[in-house]
Parts: sequence; C-alpha cells; structure tokens
Amino acid sequence: MALVAPSILSADFSKLAEEIRAAEEAGADLIHIDVMDGLFVPNITIGQEVVRAIRKTTSLPFDVHLMIEAPERHLEAFAEAGADIITVHYEASVHLHRAVQRIRELNCKPGVSINPATPVWVLQDILDELYLVLIMSVNPGFGGQEFIPSSLRKIGTLKDEILRRGLKTLIEVDGGIKVDNARQVVEAGADILVMGSGFFGADNYIELMRVLRKEIEPGRTL
Ligand code: DX5
Ligand code: ZN
Repeated sequence: MALVAPSILSADFSKLAEEIRAAEEAGADLIHIDVMDGLFVPNITIGQEVVRAIRKTTSLPFDVHLMIEAPERHLEAFAEAGADIITVHYEASVHLHRAVQRIRELNCKPGVSINPATPVWVLQDILDELYLVLIMSVNPGFGGQEFIPSSLRKIGTLKDEILRRGLKTLIEVDGGIKVDNARQVVEAGADILVMGSGFFGADNYIELMRVLRKEIEPGRTL
C-alpha cells in the first residue's frame, strides 16, 4: 500500500498547526517538510525551529527533505528538532556515505534524493544503506510544477534494482503528483507519494484523500 506524504510547502503558513492536524485527520501517513537554503535551490523555506514548533502538533512521522548544500552541517539540528526521516540530496553532499551514517547514528531514517537529471545508477553503492530513495519528479525548489514524465522510467529502473537485490529500500516520489497521475506513479513502483499543491490546494482534504486512496488502491472497498 502506497503511503501519502502531504508537503507543507503548499500549506497556509499562517496556520501551519491547523493545516497539519487537518492533514492527519484526512489520513495522511507522513508529513513532508521541505527545507531550502536559497543556494542549492533558489528558495528559502523552513528551518529547524519551525520543525521543532510543529513537532508538537502531530504524532505523524516527519519526513524532512533537505534541499541544502552540504547538508551534513545541519543533520543534528533537524534530528533534534524532531525529524524521523532525513533525506539529503546526492548532488549536495560530497561525503554522502558519511552523511547517511550520521543520520542513522542520530536515530533517524536516511534517505537520498536525486534530481531529474541524475540517473538512478549513481546510488548503486549506497542503496543498501538507505531507508528510502526520493526521486524528484520536478526540479526542486518550488511547489506546483508539472510532473516530468521520464521520472516514471527512473522509478521503474530503481524498483527493478531494489527487487533484484532483495532490499527493503522504499521509493518516494516528489513533485507534480496529483490525483490524476498518482496511480501511474504507484504502478511504476513508488511506495510514498509526496503531494504539495495537489493536497493543500484541495478544498476538502478528507474528500481528496478518499478519492486518492481509491486511485492508488483500486482493490480497496471503502
Ligand atoms: C519541491 C519540493 C516538493 C514540493 C512538491 O522542491 O521538494 O516537496 O512541495 O509540491 P507539488 O506537489 O506541488 O509539486
Ligand atoms: Zn520535497
């Protein structure tokens, strides 16, 4: 069963706590938190103090997506603030293996993300150390962009490799996912769907989740 991780980047920041509670009530599985530094990506978003503040609002796991240069400088800060999963970008870390080990030492689950132009094979030698791989299906930096169709092929390639090696690594997909294309993404091999504008742009999160679950779990009778 694929999990759904609403990205609070598209939530109303003036009432973040309320938005997170509403996402939880609607049946979200994880809360996806996009951290941007204005360097790795053009935007600046959320820092560890905001993560710490919203930690009190929900018991859902915090899925922290670090779109920052040299993320190893800030792992402790986000772990301490309440992250459960910490994902760093392949493109942003010279010592990726060390960063992944450090995330585990901090009792968090490690993820590595790849940009649309980065092939999945670069993760060959680190795949078995990872809790998840986050495939970016848009160029990171902004919510509300169009899904890049070639991401589907990448998800499939990675899924084959994970199955071939008998690994438990999860595939998370982030960017441009809506109710209309969610099924395709899950069928390609995704385990976790990140949804920003597709989730928080909906008028009714409960209704959105009902329709979405039906799309991605066709066998479900609810
Ligand atoms: C983009 C972020 C995404 C973003 C997705 O850089 O990593 O998590 O919130 O937003 P949508 O679903 O609107 O593409
Ligand atoms: Zn993200």
